[in-house]
Amino acid sequence: MLGRLLELNGIDSVILENRSKDYVIERVRAGVLEQGTVDLMVASGVGDRLHREGLRHDGVWLAFKGDRRHIDFRGLTGQSIVVYGQNEVVKDYIAARESSGHPLHFEISNVSVDQIESATPKVRYHHDGADHELVCDYIAGCDGFHGICRSAIPTTHLHLYEKAYPFAWLGILATAAPSSEELVYALHERGFALFSMRSPQVTRLYLQCSPDEDIAHWPDDRIWHELERRLQTSDGWRLNQGPIFQKGVTPMRSFVADPMRYGNLFLAGDAAHIVPPTGAKGLNLAAADIRVLAHALVTHYKLGNSGELESYSETCLRRIWKAQRFSWWMTSMLHRFGTEADFDYHRQLAELDYVTGSQAGMTSLAENYVGLPIDTDIPV
Ligand code: DHB
Repeated sequence: MLGRLLELNGIDSVILENRSKDYVIERVRAGVLEQGTVDLMVASGVGDRLHREGLRHDGVWLAFKGDRRHIDFRGLTGQSIVVYGQNEVVKDYIAARESSGHPLHFEISNVSVDQIESATPKVRYHHDGADHELVCDYIAGCDGFHGICRSAIPTTHLHLYEKAYPFAWLGILATAAPSSEELVYALHERGFALFSMRSPQVTRLYLQCSPDEDIAHWPDDRIWHELERRLQTSDGWRLNQGPIFQKGVTPMRSFVADPMRYGNLFLAGDAAHIVPPTGAKGLNLAAADIRVLAHALVTHYKLGNSGELESYSETCLRRIWKAQRFSWWMTSMLHRFGTEADFDYHRQLAELDYVTGSQAGMTSLAENYVGLPIDTDIPV
C-alpha cells in the first residue's frame, strides 16, 4: 500500500518480503474492509476487482440466548463495510506493483536494518544468491509482529503495552453458500462463534477455543457440531454446511509499541500494534497507518515540510488506542473467560441486550465498527 502511494507520487521505494509470493497471496487472514481502506485501494488504482467481487454489508447481527439482533450500520452511520479477503488485497497490490515495474523482491533472507538514527539508514539482505545493501532516506517497518524492525529500536526508547487473552479462535473456510447475508457474532454458554464469508460460494467461520488448541482434535464433524450449537437461533436460522478446505488457530493479543518511530525507521501495522480479531480492525489499522505515513512522506519530499513525519506516531496512536479499546471491548463482551462466575456471564448478556436495544449503544458499536474518522487525506 505504501509502495503504491509513493510510486504514484514519484517517490522511489524498494519492497522486501521474506516469504514467497504464493505464500502471501494464499495465506488466509481477515476479511472485513472499512470504507477508509476501500477508499485507499480505489484511490491507488487497485479497486477494480474489489468493486466486482467485494461484498458490501450494511450491518451485522449479534446473537445471544438464542436471539439474533441486527445493528444497521448504514442507517446509524451512513457507512457500510466490504467483505474481501486480506490476501486478495495483497494480491491486487502485488499485481499493481509488478505491472508498474517498481522493485518488489520475494524470498529475501538475512535481513537487517542498521544506522537507523542516521540520515542514511541501511537495509542489508540476501537475495538471488547475493548480499545486498540498500542506502535509504527512510525505512518503513511493515514487517509484522515478529518482524525485525521493532527489535532494532533500543528498548529504552520504546514503551510496550500488552494484554493476553485466555482463548484463541479456530477458523475454517468451507465450500458452502453463506446462510446469512451479514456476519453473525454470537456469545453462547460454550463460548464465542462467528459466522462470516468470503464469496457467494464460501463461508468463513470461527469458534472460541483454547490458546494451545491442537487442530488434530477437531475433525470436521466436531467443528460443525460445535458451530451449530453456538450459532443456532430460535428464529430458525441454521448454518449451511459443506466441505472444509482450510483450518487454522488465530491467537489473541492486544499490543501497542509507542512511539512508532525511531530515527528514520517508521513502524506500521502489526509491527507496532496487534488487536484481538473481534471487530476486524487489524488490516484496517495498518491501512490507516500507511495513509498517514504516505501523506507525511509526500509532504516531506514535495514541500520540504517534515512536520507530519515528526507527528506520525502521535497521529496514528491516537486512533489506534480507540481501535484497541473497541477490539478489547468486543472481545470481552463476546467470549467466555472460563474463570468468570455466573455473574459475569449475565453481565455480558445484559451488555448485549443494552447495546442492541439502545440507539446510543448501537450507534457507538456501529461507528467504531465501520471505522472512526481518519484525519489525513489520501495523497493521490
Ligand atoms: C472476519 C474476521 C474477523 O476478525 C471479524 O471480526 C469478522 C470477520 C473474517 O475473517 O471474515
